[in-house]
Amino acid sequence: MRLRHRKWANECLDDNKDIGKNLSEINEETVLPYSQLEIGCGLGGFLLSMSHDYPQNKYLGVEVNKNAFAMAVKKASVVKKDQKNFLIINSPIERLFPLFKEKQLKEIFINFPDPWPKKKQHHRRLSYNTMLKEYDRILKDDGTIFFRTDNKELYEDSKTYFESSGLFDLTYISPFFSENCDYLNATEYENKFRAKGVDINLIIAKKKNK
Ligand SMILES: C[S@@+](CC[C@H](N)C(=O)[O-])C[C@H]1O[C@@H](n2cnc3c(N)ncnc32)[C@H](O)[C@@H]1O
Repeated sequence: MRLRHRKWANECLDDNKDIGKNLSEINEETVLPYSQLEIGCGLGGFLLSMSHDYPQNKYLGVEVNKNAFAMAVKKASVVKKDQKNFLIINSPIERLFPLFKEKQLKEIFINFPDPWPKKKQHHRRLSYNTMLKEYDRILKDDGTIFFRTDNKELYEDSKTYFESSGLFDLTYISPFFSENCDYLNATEYENKFRAKGVDINLIIAKKKNK
């Protein structure tokens, strides 16, 4: 899938610079109002339904893939008149960390991240210990990470990463059902996996008061 073949995408991104931005278009001021972060927001379903259901919060979605980003912005453009509490950024999260203030965020959502199954790829996982240190820096003292995956190996390894960091109080929900949950809406990937009967696992990591 190459974006340059998608004429609608470039037009849509040009028309919606208020809700979809590139790394070159943002700075610390841009991200400062946001207290909820979704990493890898994909097609934007979760971000938009949460920003709809919790209008008191401000949601920042970050997506590295330009095609997924364009589709999320297209979906978001339909609701932007009524929902003013979100922004989507096309970037790897790693490039955004320096822009966040210490203790800025109340919640970080990581929904169905890439599992990076090979050992030599593990350092790329969004739950890897280098990432956990960044989350700890930018989360408020009572801030929380919600990490959801269908991948059993990633789930088990991530439990180890979170536990060995010593930075969080941990709760595990396995299997997790978003329909029985009043704080986490479903995502596009979740709906796909659930339709195939795959179990979803959730790690809730609450930052420890130090
Ligand atoms: C498997 S998809 C899940 C999409 C969505 N969260 C959902 O549940 O439907 C994972 C997404 O994370 C994005 N992603 C992976 N690594 C990322 C990173 N370092 N920064 C931002 N996005 C990332 C991928 O491009 C992909 O769209």
